[in-house]
Amino acid sequence: MSLLQKLQNLESQAQSDLSTVQNPEQFEQVKNKYLSRKGLLAELTSELKSVPSEEKPIVGKEANRIKNVLTALFEDKEKNFQKNSSHTNSLSEDVTMPSLIQPIGTLHPLTQITNEICQIFSRLGFTFADGPEMETEFYNFEALNIPANHPSRDAVDTFYLENGKLLRSQTSTVQIRVMQERKPPFKIIAPGKVYRPDATDATHSFMFHQIEGLMVDEKVSFADLKGVLLTFAKSLFGKDVTLQFRPHFFPFTEPSAEVDISCNFKTGSGMMIKSKTGWLEILGAGMVHPKVLTAAGINPKKYSGFAFGLGVERIAMLKYGIKDIRLFYENDIRFLNQFA
Ligand code: DAH
Repeated sequence: MSLLQKLQNLESQAQSDLSTVQNPEQFEQVKNKYLSRKGLLAELTSELKSVPSEEKPIVGKEANRIKNVLTALFEDKEKNFQKNSSHTNSLSEDVTMPSLIQPIGTLHPLTQITNEICQIFSRLGFTFADGPEMETEFYNFEALNIPANHPSRDAVDTFYLENGKLLRSQTSTVQIRVMQERKPPFKIIAPGKVYRPDATDATHSFMFHQIEGLMVDEKVSFADLKGVLLTFAKSLFGKDVTLQFRPHFFPFTEPSAEVDISCNFKTGSGMMIKSKTGWLEILGAGMVHPKVLTAAGINPKKYSGFAFGLGVERIAMLKYGIKDIRLFYENDIRFLNQFA
């Protein structure tokens, strides 16, 4: 085979090799094979010396042309890789670098409302307390004056665990833990999750959030309770709202009340909240039962206290005008983005 033919074969071989190249490493390999100083083209060119002198100009010209064609083809291909690598990740890029556009998340609406409520109470001097979600019957029921056969257990009977504990059905458990640990006076709020075996619908969920409040000191009265709750309601819903205390029964408070808010306020979206009676229940409250104080080691002759418990979802639904509690747990970005 003449050198001219060998050169032309090399040209078409190099072109077909180049067309199969997929990534920068393969490209380097093929480029070295043909165009490096010791590559196939250089090898053939060195054979020019032994070509008869009358053929030299033709073969030499062809060798030059092939060199130029291949060099241009390889350059093109290399540029292509560089262009693509700015879209995908090339090896030289640090793939762990944060991207330029960072979507910023927001706090979940339940977290937002919990923070807002806790801030209001902390301005009133309440400090933060916490307790476990996995509780004993003692803290969830007995210490709160709900003995085993008490009918009021029915409504809040909860999930029992194999280890003999249960999922707390109310944040009132934290009242007992705080009273056992601290000496009066104290004012605490305790936000957290609670669990009940309720069928899920637009207003019920097997898990929801409560905020518990407790104040114990000498001479704490029902008037203190009313003052604190009214200040809270006005701060959260606007200065025009009023409260109604309806007599009710809770085993751990005496007297006890359900507290309703007057329906003359607007939701976050500007919608007017309405109810047939003009009132909507927002929480339960009362004066801590002497038996509860005693069970937690506090002398009821010296100290008195009030307590209250509110449902966070319920307050959020009223404040934001949300009709279905399930929206809080579905994590649909279209819902959550409205609270950004
Ligand atoms: N624990 C009650 C419930 O889950 C709410 C409650 C009512 C809490 C009265 C209190 C209270 O602290 O005094 O329904």
